[in-house]
Amino acid sequence: MLKLAIMGAMREEIEPILKHFSDIKVNEYANNKYYEFKYDNLEIILAYSKIGKVNASLTASVLIEKFKCNVLLFTGVAGAINPDLKIGDLLIANKLCQHDIDITAFGHPYGYIPEGKVFIETSKILRDLAFHIASENNIKLSLASIATGDQFINSNTQKDFIKNTFRADALEMEGASVALVCDALDVPFLVLRSISDTANMDAGFDFDEFLKSSSKTSANFILHMIDKLKNFTSIEDK
Ligand code: ADE
Repeated sequence: MLKLAIMGAMREEIEPILKHFSDIKVNEYANNKYYEFKYDNLEIILAYSKIGKVNASLTASVLIEKFKCNVLLFTGVAGAINPDLKIGDLLIANKLCQHDIDITAFGHPYGYIPEGKVFIETSKILRDLAFHIASENNIKLSLASIATGDQFINSNTQKDFIKNTFRADALEMEGASVALVCDALDVPFLVLRSISDTANMDAGFDFDEFLKSSSKTSANFILHMIDKLKNFTSIEDK
């Protein structure tokens, strides 16, 4: 039986999903609200973590350890690094890294923590399912490498560092921490993002302007995924 976790970082990122369902039970736990509902045979728990890697790690851990979710989808917005990605474009991550990990003083590469790895991959089954849905519904979907860090990036200098160091296509503030939790706890996961800005000097303005519409693009795709996942009993990746 699948128990599906859906998470975003901000209220705006999950609201279009929440609005879609009724009979919602609200569980308050660890300074947050976890929205619980059923769709067909699927049990779903939805939450937004608040911004950043620590909040996102907490929420992902609670979704898995307390609420016993065994698959996790993240939805939200991202800043584009790859110039082919435009505002409103939809992407799924193939792999994610933390761009703000720096213990290079000890000879380690950027993004690396001993006994860990720089990049964590998402579930191939969930990626394949996403591309299947995209082609069925004529939705343009890109595969992207995502860099995560606890900064809102709004300069070409910061963006170029991340681009050159990690060859990432997009950046945001939660994905890699969720990936680390899911990988450690053996829960298949996927990170979906729609572009809200291009992480340059206009990023703050663009983010405010496009947060709602891009959140909706990503959330709508999650609704398609929910519709397919209701027919799954398990997700075996490895
Ligand atoms: N999420 C969306 N845009 C972002 C940016 N420019 N920096 C960090 N996270 C983001």
